[in-house]
Amino acid sequence: MATAAVSNPMSEITLPRGCTFERDDWIILAKHWYPIAMAREVGEKPIGTKLLDQPLVIYKADGAIVVAPDICPHRGVPLSLGTQIESGVVCAYHGLKFGAEGKCVHVPASPARDIPARLHLATFPAVERYGLIWTCLLPESAEPAPGAIVDMPHWDEPDFQQIVCPWMDIFGFAGRQMEGFLDVAHFAFVHTDTFGDANNAEVPAYKTRVTDTGFEAEYWSTVGNYPIGVEGRGVPGFRWLRHFRCHLPFVATLEIHFPGTDRLSIMNAASPVSAKVTRLFAPMARNFDKDLPLQDVYDFNYRVFLEDKSIVETQMPECLPLDPTMEAHIPADLSSMAYRRGLKAMGLSRFFIS
Ligand code: FES
Ligand SMILES: [Fe+2]
Repeated sequence: MATAAVSNPMSEITLPRGCTFERDDWIILAKHWYPIAMAREVGEKPIGTKLLDQPLVIYKADGAIVVAPDICPHRGVPLSLGTQIESGVVCAYHGLKFGAEGKCVHVPASPARDIPARLHLATFPAVERYGLIWTCLLPESAEPAPGAIVDMPHWDEPDFQQIVCPWMDIFGFAGRQMEGFLDVAHFAFVHTDTFGDANNAEVPAYKTRVTDTGFEAEYWSTVGNYPIGVEGRGVPGFRWLRHFRCHLPFVATLEIHFPGTDRLSIMNAASPVSAKVTRLFAPMARNFDKDLPLQDVYDFNYRVFLEDKSIVETQMPECLPLDPTMEAHIPADLSSMAYRRGLKAMGLSRFFIS
């Protein structure tokens, strides 16, 4: 686990330039933790990304991960354009070097002079969990409080394989994508090339239950979970259990019970780059097929999420209306309604985002 000190660069709560969220919504969302990169992609070169419209740079300094605003305090060049070296990042413009905890440690044009504190980077926390780097823009401390980051079923169990699928960008709002992940009524229409069954569209009754971090739903159906084309692996008459756990605002896990003791746990972490762009991270854990090529899992997961992406990017309004009268609902929407109620209870605005 890599941790950076918290200097809370947002302490005066100045919203990022061009913020696409309403101010009060942004402040609520910025207190939560989100994944911003896969751990395995950090270190080769500085990574430039965004969270809630805040540009971020992620680099490594002597093995520790640093997350900071992606702007050089000297003349405002993005540090993500710089060079990753063993001990930190070197800015592309005048070569200022930044190391652990965002400290400026070298000014090539005046190497013998003291380095003023103004040249140090304000940093955000960096915590590695589930193969992802998580951060928070308005943290209470450098370490997430218990429950602040979702619990991933089975991830730490010895018999389970841990898989971190490459992320995918979706040009839509995180809330819309999340709601789609929790929705089972679309399988028969959207996922017919992967695992859905066009002839099995009815959604059996299910219930939702409020939890400390959101809600959960246990959903039983006869829609299988094997990729289409894989024959002979199901048990006739088997009823599948999909156990959804929603961790507000934008993370959920799905635990799928296969026949016998096989289990697959999938995380859907919809990281809000902005109100209009979502970076979707999807770690998984499974206790079967552990010797098969990982690329096959990546490819299948990509195809499933691509099917969802093609829908989410078309939805209007782009935001997620939290006023229940703004969209029409069907009985299968229990999870969706629980999700919207949960977001509303967080204090988010009625017509969520611009
Ligand atoms: S702008 Fe970064 S070193 Fe000058
Ligand atoms: Fe889907």
